This record gives sequence, structure tokens and C-alpha cells, in this order.
Amino acid sequence: ESVERGGYRHFMLKEIHEQPAAVAETLEGRHADGRVLEAAFGPGAEQLLDQAERLQIVACGTSYHAGLIARFWAETYAGLPCDVEVASEFRYRAHAVTPGTLVVVISQSGETADVLAALRESRRLGYAGVLAICNVPESSLVREADLTLLTRAGPEIGVASTKAFTTQLTALLLLVAAFARRRGRPQSEQELVRAAVQLPGALERAVAVEAQVAELAEQFVDRAHALFLGRGAHYPVALEGSLKLKEISYIHAEAYPAGELKHGPLALVDDGMPVVAVAPRDDLLDKLQSNLQEVRARGGRLFVFADDAAALRSTGGYQVLPVPAGPDPISPVIHTVPLQLLAYHVAVLRGTDVDKPRNLAKSVTVE
Ligand code: G6P
Repeated sequence: ESVERGGYRHFMLKEIHEQPAAVAETLEGRHADGRVLEAAFGPGAEQLLDQAERLQIVACGTSYHAGLIARFWAETYAGLPCDVEVASEFRYRAHAVTPGTLVVVISQSGETADVLAALRESRRLGYAGVLAICNVPESSLVREADLTLLTRAGPEIGVASTKAFTTQLTALLLLVAAFARRRGRPQSEQELVRAAVQLPGALERAVAVEAQVAELAEQFVDRAHALFLGRGAHYPVALEGSLKLKEISYIHAEAYPAGELKHGPLALVDDGMPVVAVAPRDDLLDKLQSNLQEVRARGGRLFVFADDAAALRSTGGYQVLPVPAGPDPISPVIHTVPLQLLAYHVAVLRGTDVDKPRNLAKSVTVE
């Protein structure tokens, strides 16, 4: 097993470091001259994508968080209405189906029971078709979907998903770019494809912040709780960061959209509560900073993962971790990596079984 880990202490760390290459692999042969090559989606893709007026994304766990980010991309860059739901809810509720709604199922394994059941339920309900984003070509999900866009992350061993997530986001960027073109936004298609091409380099730079993150991790070791904040497409990044931390370090972590702080979680903030903020340089930065002031005023310990172009500086009670800048569409993907590293290093310091956290399975094939 130590040979398979390629010199890394854990599979999770190896998989975090594999992300630049896995994303490059997922992009390979799927775009040319700023355009998406739709042959990647399989035979019959054009007709099915042409008919889609709306997306319904369905997934579980980390794959669900990828869907939440894709919703921002679909509505921002393609003007395509998009809903996202966890599979275990989707499969058991009544649906008012809007005609022309394409279901997009996202699953690393392609064997998650709730996702497969949701796919089958969507057929019964009369959704327009199913596109799968999946990492396992021979999986049940790929067999049952109409179209598939494979992520090429390679086998993911660590139970906490890392490279599967960033390759799912890469595939979703390509999908949204294809819709942008269809919906008369060729410039958005170009913007997305050009940003996607920068991902491997940007992720390489993001992984390189590891030493700084490892140092920061020491301040989380003896904490019982942590709060993660983000806004817009970076709120799902906060959700994913908090999920990683709770999965492998067993620290109770919650994520909130930063603007909701005053509607509840602020009551929990005191000098024992680390608050992680995902703070990219976008037009919500000012608003986020005023949310952060509220945390500071109550003695909360702030850890701000900020785009290095935002040039925020550490002060007392406010620590800034600079995250390499990148174009807007890929900023959520870049900001994910330091949070994966934070969860990893906190878990290592706490001595948990990082690759096989208690009570969790890599693939949940029963309900
Ligand atoms: C389990 C895993 C998670 C994963 C989720 C969905 O809970 O521990 O890491 O995100 O299942 O798995 P899938 O294979 O459908 O993406």
C-alpha cells in the first residue's frame, strides 16, 4: 500500500496533489480554439442539449457541492435556469416538472444508491433526459444515463473526496460553456473555456500553499467547533471546506452564507470559535468584510482565505491566507484546495484515520 501512496503519507494527500494533472486530463481533447467539442458528451448529445431549457442537478455529498457551484455558472454564464437537490430528497418528493428540463446527475462512483434511484425516478416523472458526470466508466450510472461526461480523476481511494470534486467542476465548466454557446453567448463560452484551460496551473499554485496551511492547522487542533463563511459561488466552497473538516478531523463544522451570520450563528461566536472565511476578490468582498467585522467584534478568531490579488493583510485576531488569483469562473475551484489541505492537516495533527474516517464509506450503495 505504501508503494501505491507514491511516497505520500496518505492517499488523501496524494490525491490533493494529483489535482492539477487530473484536471488537465479531464480537459484533454474536449476543447479547441476557445470552444467545447461536444463529441465528448457522447452520441446524440447535440439534440438532447438543444432541447434543454433548464437543468435539474441531483447528487450527494461532495458531488452535491459541485452541483451548487455549477448552478452559479449555469445562470451567470449561460442564462440557463438551474436547480440543485440532494438525491435522497429528490427521489421522495412530488415534482412539478418544467418541460425541457435536463437532469444532470453527478457522482464519483456512479453507484450511490440514492443517485441511481433519483435517475430512475426522473425517467418516470418525464424529465427530458439524463446526463451523468461520473468518474467510473463502467458504473451503473453511466450505463443508465443518456449522455455521459467522464471525469478522468483516476481511482480515488481516500473516503473524503478531493480530486473527484475538482474534476467534476472541470466537467461542469465545459457543460455550461456548451450551453452558453447554444444560448447565444459565444463570448461566455470562450471566457469559460479560457478559464478552464488555466485550471491546472492555478491548482498547482494552490497546492503550493500547503506549508502555510499546515501551520494554520495547529490553531484548529484543540477546537470543538468551526464556522465556515462564503458568499455566492464561494458559499458552496465553504460548505465543502466544512464537510472535509468534519469528515476527517471530527471537529463539528458548519458553513453559512456570510450574510446569514446575523440570523443565528453569530450567537455561537466567542474567542473559542475559529471562523474560516472564503474571500475572493469579487464584488461581494466589501460585503463579506463587513460580515467579518461582526465576527471580530465578538472576539471570534478569523482565518481569511483571500485571493492574493485582494491584498488583505493579517492583523491581530485576523489571519489572512493568500490564495493564488485566477479568473472569476475558476475562483471557486482554486479556493477549494487550501480548505482540503486545512482539513487534512488538522486531521493528521488529531491523529485520526484520514483515509478511512470512522462510520463513513467511500461509496454508499445502500439506502
Ligand atoms: C459518500 C462519500 C463522499 C461522496 C458521497 C457521494 O458519502 O464518502 O465522499 O461525496 O458518498 O458519492 P458519489 O460517488 O455519488 O460522488
